Amino acid sequence: MKEQGKIWMNGKLVPFKDAKIHVLTHALHYSTAVFEGIRCYNTPKGSVIFRLREHIDRFFKSATMYSMKIPYSKQEISNAIIKTVQASGLKECYIRPIAYYGYGVLGLTPTPNKIDVAIACWDWKTGESAAGKVRGARCKVSSWLRIDSRSQPMRAKAASNYANAALARVEALRDGYDEAIMLNYLGKISEGSAENIFIVNNDEISTPPQSAGILEGITRDSVIKIARSEGITVFERD
Ligand SMILES: Cc1ncc(COP(=O)(O)O)c(C=O)c1O
Repeated sequence: MKEQGKIWMNGKLVPFKDAKIHVLTHALHYSTAVFEGIRCYNTPKGSVIFRLREHIDRFFKSATMYSMKIPYSKQEISNAIIKTVQASGLKECYIRPIAYYGYGVLGLTPTPNKIDVAIACWDWKTGESAAGKVRGARCKVSSWLRIDSRSQPMRAKAASNYANAALARVEALRDGYDEAIMLNYLGKISEGSAENIFIVNNDEISTPPQSAGILEGITRDSVIKIARSEGITVFERD
């Protein structure tokens, strides 16, 4: 990773290489963190952050699902994200806000710890995978099932969901594929390890419904809205 610009940590911009946490941070041991993945694009009108408001709304919803009270307002987080992007000097980047139970009391119960918040951005052109961006993706139906929403809230963009996704990703790469497609406990398609799935069939599009245990992607929402506005039929169905 190229260390460029600054990282916002609990209200202050610090040099990229100094954005460190204690090894006994609760989230490191128990996955008690929620985060976002946001894109800033270079456009003819300048740099534009894609659907920032929706990302911030989801960030706060994810936090609530983990009993976290983010110690900043949505407006403060929004301003901090813009400030972090500006400090990076990048015209186009990936942005990662994260809120996590911090350092203080180690043991399963997270709530005695304070909530720390950090925002980083960096140049990450392909994002999670080059697959599908620079060429078609070869996908493997994973032997790992997507965690069921009755086990933990899969609607949250939470770190704890991603050990499951990482197992699927590693298995797919090890077997010579680019990406994993994950099924839910009913054997229905849920999503990729880090993306929603669409099936294009002639002039119709279908995508797994929220009940399939997916993260309700903001890109997914945009694709559905744009397709429907162009008169294309979109089904949200198993
Ligand atoms: C599991 C999972 N599903 C779907 C998505 C797509 O979400 P969005 O379009 O909001 O980036 C992501 C994004 O990282 C993801 O990790």
